[in-house]
Amino acid sequence: MVLPFPSQVVYNRVGKCGSRTVVLLLRILSEKHGFNLVTSDIHNKTRLTKNEQMELIKNISTAEQPYLFTRHVHFLNFSRFGGDQPVYINIIRDPVSRFLSNYFFRRFGDWRGEQNHMIRTPSMRQEERYLDINECILENYPECSNPRLFYIIPYFCGQHPRCREPGEWALERAKLNVNENFLLVGILEELEDVLLLLERFLPHYFKGVLSIYKDPEHRKLGNMTVTVKKTVPSPEAVQILYQRMRYEYEFYHYIKEQFHLLKRKFGLKSHVSKPALRPQFFIPSPLETEEPIDDEEQDDEKWLEDIYKR
Ligand SMILES: *[C@@H]1O[C@H](CO)[C@@H](O)[C@H](O)[C@H]1NC(C)=O
Ligand SMILES: *[C@@H]1O[C@H](CO)[C@@H](O)[C@H](O)[C@H]1NC(C)=O
Ligand SMILES: *[C@@H]1O[C@H](CO)[C@@H](O)[C@H](O)[C@H]1NC(C)=O
Ligand SMILES: *[C@@H]1O[C@H](CO)[C@@H](O)[C@H](O)[C@H]1NC(C)=O
Repeated sequence: MVLPFPSQVVYNRVGKCGSRTVVLLLRILSEKHGFNLVTSDIHNKTRLTKNEQMELIKNISTAEQPYLFTRHVHFLNFSRFGGDQPVYINIIRDPVSRFLSNYFFRRFGDWRGEQNHMIRTPSMRQEERYLDINECILENYPECSNPRLFYIIPYFCGQHPRCREPGEWALERAKLNVNENFLLVGILEELEDVLLLLERFLPHYFKGVLSIYKDPEHRKLGNMTVTVKKTVPSPEAVQILYQRMRYEYEFYHYIKEQFHLLKRKFGLKSHVSKPALRPQFFIPSPLETEEPIDDEEQDDEKWLEDIYKR
């Protein structure tokens, strides 16, 4: 399959699904291939008013092509405002895994340690920082309940208010949108294959990405972002999370299945998932990258630039 060369690509990256790693790779790739990487300075606003959507779409559309625009933002419907619909790409991961990663990252940061996350969430009260994950889930704290647990689907559903209501409507619209507007939605658990497919589908942007990713220099960067102090919720609490996130899981499994179909079509082997004794999110993963999280969080991309400059 030879795709026409899409010159407008949007990666509306989902929080805490490896996008740090991908943005780092994109910085390198944009220099290598000469495309216009447009990253937004706004990291804490995923939903926009109609006017904000219009203005942002106008802005993106005037960027020099070929461009790749990336921001933590729920799907934007360019054609609704008379623009050309760009090609969308994205990456998601196991919903509970994403949630836990976010939960502990908000509190305890990552390799940068306590000092840094104190700066990151300085206003967080001690009771909140040391809130036991099981208590949060079992006592129905807002952070561990819906609608806060309905996180991934809105990135694909869009800006409609119903996209944030946990339910069938948002789920179905998200799936439809994926089919109609997304060239690829990968899963973080198989990141190397995601990169491989991106390289095939969008060579003008991603050619050589896998060798950059596998380069020991960059590998090291990815490894440094493991979130610390993670504790594991009780099996009972995990069951409650599965229940609360059932739409998120329906979406995740749908995406995973499509991703595996695509891999097969392009001759890549799918992982044969062994019946896991422990769910995947208990296994420490070197791919765990940090992300700005949700709307109250500020991002600090600066650390990444600092590292990259070294
Ligand atoms: C659009 O671009 C202009 C100039 O680059 C900038 O000042 C403005 O904040 C941008 N608006 C949005 C919504 O990004
Ligand atoms: C995008 O907008 C077009 C035109 O208004 C509409 O037909 C389409 O259903 C919208 N798609 C989504 C996913 O909102
Ligand atoms: C990742 O970091 C750990 C701990 O610092 C180290 O033992 C491991 O070798 C590193 N892995 C890679 C691929 O760099
Ligand atoms: C987002 O962050 C900016 C500062 O970077 C802050 O001024 C603004 O209030 C934040 N917005 C939300 C919705 O949290």
